[in-house]
Amino acid sequence: MRKAIYQAIVLAGLCALLLPVSLMAADMTKMPAADGQALQDYITKTDPYAKWDLMPGTTKMRQGKEPHGALQNVYVNKAALKAIKDKAGAMPDGAIVVKENYMADKKLSSVTVLYKKKGFNPEAGDYMWLKYGADMKILAQGKPAPCIQCHTQAKANDYVILAPLK
Ligand code: HEC
Repeated sequence: MRKAIYQAIVLAGLCALLLPVSLMAADMTKMPAADGQALQDYITKTDPYAKWDLMPGTTKMRQGKEPHGALQNVYVNKAALKAIKDKAGAMPDGAIVVKENYMADKKLSSVTVLYKKKGFNPEAGDYMWLKYGADMKILAQGKPAPCIQCHTQAKANDYVILAPLK
């Protein structure tokens, strides 16, 4: 009898110890890998960007510049929103910015994404870049030189052009 009680106590203790650990692990693995398909699945299915906030300072169907859409919707996930609001200086690990690019006739042409992934590309702000077409086909991913080169104009703002982080 005493042994059973002892066992129960040990078991309860183990559970109390392991539960937070497993929850923490689940939280850390929630973000997608630095892979175009995984990121696309994440922002369209797991945590659909269409439900996120618009990037502060932007409006729906804002007018954009080359090479991006004539009209754009720019969305930020919670981590990115917080960094902009807090003027954090840089985007934190896991921050995502999604920009829908529309043609002048309001037809979606492509979606471009910035994803902060710690350790992915320390030479250029640790971002994974992604571009896919209206048909969901991935057109560029990873560390495309054109994306990085042009966004380097905003290096002091952690490569983000549209919202000040400081
Ligand atoms: C020739 C310059 C240029 C190139 C190349 C470029 N961008 Fe941009 N990007 C911009 C500008 C300028 C903006 C601000 C929005 C606008 O005016 O169109 C922007 C905005 C963005 C944003 C919204 C967040 C922010 O920085 O404000 C994302 C996401 C983005 N670009 C992704 C990409 C990806 C992915 C690529 C490569 C496939 C790319 N960009 C290539 C110039 C560029």
